[in-house]
Amino acid sequence: MSETTEKQTEKPGVTNRKQPYPQGFLDTISEGWAERPEQLPPLREQAPYAAARRAAVSRAFPGRRLVVPAGPLKQRSNDTDYPFRVHSAFAHLTGWGADSEPDSVLVFEPTDDGHDVTLYFRERADRTTAEFYSDATIGEFWIGPRPALGGVAGELGLPTAHIDAFESKEGDLVVDQDEDLTRFVSELRLVKDEFEIAQMRLAVQVTADGFDDIVRELPRIIEHPRGERVVEGVFHQRARSDGNWEGYDTIAASGPHACYLHWTRNDGAVLPGDLILIDAGAEVDSLYTADITRTLPVSGTFTPIQRKIYETVREAADAAFAAARPGVKFRALHEAAMEVLARRTAEWGLLPVTAEEALDADRGGHHRRYMVHGTSHHLGLDVHDCAQARREMYYDGVLEPGMVFTIEPGLYFQIDDLTVPEEYRGIGVRIEDDVLLNEDGPVNLSAAIPRTADEIEAWISRSRS
Ligand code: GLY
Ligand code: MN
Repeated sequence: MSETTEKQTEKPGVTNRKQPYPQGFLDTISEGWAERPEQLPPLREQAPYAAARRAAVSRAFPGRRLVVPAGPLKQRSNDTDYPFRVHSAFAHLTGWGADSEPDSVLVFEPTDDGHDVTLYFRERADRTTAEFYSDATIGEFWIGPRPALGGVAGELGLPTAHIDAFESKEGDLVVDQDEDLTRFVSELRLVKDEFEIAQMRLAVQVTADGFDDIVRELPRIIEHPRGERVVEGVFHQRARSDGNWEGYDTIAASGPHACYLHWTRNDGAVLPGDLILIDAGAEVDSLYTADITRTLPVSGTFTPIQRKIYETVREAADAAFAAARPGVKFRALHEAAMEVLARRTAEWGLLPVTAEEALDADRGGHHRRYMVHGTSHHLGLDVHDCAQARREMYYDGVLEPGMVFTIEPGLYFQIDDLTVPEEYRGIGVRIEDDVLLNEDGPVNLSAAIPRTADEIEAWISRSRS
């Protein structure tokens, strides 16, 4: 399709495809359209939760003008952009998710007793404008219906205004530019509310369905020379059909690729006899994402060495679950998992020191060669949620009811690691679950996805019967 226009956003390299519109088109294009009476949609379920979050921000920054940008479209190449994904702080404070408009801003205008908050965005253009029919980036003729000020105000329970009325002012605190505001809106997400927890359950459910799809498709996946891409595609189909997108690029890592922690090239074959590590998460329309990893024996059964490593990782994960309760430090989860991995790798003769020596905070860490990443991270609107929180609120912070985080230990024996016997080399295992902390302990939100070695084998076997 080519753009045909006399007036539109100029982008390099596309002008040679434009032709002027003939007069007859210009005389008639703005007429003959039915009225679009503005129907006020109902308030979205998340609106009161977003209002409470805005009230917390307002209380924390009295007298300051605050600006929370949605973010712009990002160019992929020439005149094609990446799919728009709004800034998480903006989504959190507006309740506007997958249907957010690029370049919007949420503004907290200080008043005597708090702030007046307004959402500025580029509402759809009138059909008498050239934008309507000629702008391939925002024109409704090209990209479909766009929101009106009244509709968004009704759905989100927020005053709205056209983006052209927005002006930056000296002294504005802007998210991602002002350190204190950026930290505050990140830490505001550490404890999830009821709406967020329901969305996390939904994201986990879609992700569980995606894993089921992959297991069912294993025979087709094995047949394809780029089976890892087929895994990615099967999951993508589920994520897109039932939600917005994936919260991060799917890791489909078969055989020795499983030892590369963020293997997203996904261009390898999936071979019988190997393990495949799949780390994937569906992002639902509200933009909350799951983050789940399962490691599967491609042929349906674990070999003895694969099972030994798998069940040790599970033991480490179980130890982290057992450590999770309100009041303990977040890092206690990692320490519990690491203790298991240090003891087992020492028992297997892989360490040059004893487990106790490996566990020494200053002089140890030898076992970390086989798991260089952390055991847990917060999860929510971002896969690594609350990333701008202070260390004392995060890694050194205390667990509270309502927090949602992963537990994801692993063991990775690189194909060329001469410190381990040959039978270990090229085996990578990670087990990752999404966890909600309640008053009385952790709830494994992803418990319905088979997790023990026996459950995994039975899952694959069921899918083939
Ligand atoms: N799912 C990838 C990660 O947690 O880093
Ligand atoms: Mn993770």
